[in-house]
Amino acid sequence: MSETVQLTIDDRQVSVPSGTTILDAAQEAGIDIPVLCYFAHTTANGLCRLCVIEIEGERGLQAACVSPVRQGIVVHTRSSNVDRARRTILEMLASTVDLSESPELHTMLKTYQAKPERFEGGEKRQVPMMDDNPVYIRDYEKCVLCWRCVQVCAEDAQYNYAINFAGRGFNTSITTFLDKPMPQTTCVFCGQCVGVCPTGALKSKREYLFEQGVAPEEIFAVTRAQGKGKHSQRGPRLD
Ligand code: SF4
Ligand code: FES
Repeated sequence: MSETVQLTIDDRQVSVPSGTTILDAAQEAGIDIPVLCYFAHTTANGLCRLCVIEIEGERGLQAACVSPVRQGIVVHTRSSNVDRARRTILEMLASTVDLSESPELHTMLKTYQAKPERFEGGEKRQVPMMDDNPVYIRDYEKCVLCWRCVQVCAEDAQYNYAINFAGRGFNTSITTFLDKPMPQTTCVFCGQCVGVCPTGALKSKREYLFEQGVAPEEIFAVTRAQGKGKHSQRGPRLD
C-alpha cells in the first residue's frame, strides 16, 4: 500500500498517495493550475512551464506536472512570482505564435493580464502551411511546440515515429524525417496528432476546407481525389 503524503496547497490541507504530482494533488483539491504541454494521456515532460508553482522555503519555481508531492510542503499556485512567470511565458508565446485558434490560451492571457505588446517587434514564427496529404493540414505558425503530437505518434500511442523535433532554440520545429512529405513517412493517418493538438496547428483537411468556404460535396471530391492521387504513395484511401 502506498504511503499517504500530506501537504498544503493554497491554504488547503491535502492528503494524497506518494508519487502523486502536485498538479494532480491540486486538481483533487479543486485548485486549477493551467497547463499546455501536459495532457492526461501522454507522458508529462515539463516543457512549457505554464504550470509552475512556488514551494515555501525553496528557490525557483517548479513545474507542477512533473513534481511529485512531498511530506509537509506548502505550495502556492498563485503567488506573485508564479503569476509573473506565467504571464511572461504567455506574452512570449502570443508575440511569436499565432494563437488565434487557441481559446484556452486566450482565457489564460486574460486571467494573467498578459500584454504581448511588451515584446512587439519580436520575431514571429513564419512558416508556410503544409498541405501534403488528404487527411490533415499542418500550420506550424500556430505550433507552441508542446510535443503532444510527437508523443502520440511514438511511445504514448501509435509507435509510428513519423514526426519529431528538429532545429534548436527559436528555430525548433516539428517535422518529418528529412522533411519528407507526410505520405512518404511512416504516418498511417490515424489522426491522433490532430486530436491532441491544442492550437489548431494540426487540423482535419475537411474541417480546414469547410472553413475556407468549400462546399461539402466538393470537399469530399477533393480529399478523395488526393487520397487516390499523387499525394498518397503510402496515404490512406478515403473511398
Ligand atoms: S503541432 Fe500541435 S500538438 Fe504538435 S507540438 Fe505543435 S502545438 Fe503541440
Ligand atoms: S504543463 Fe507542466 S510544464 Fe507544461
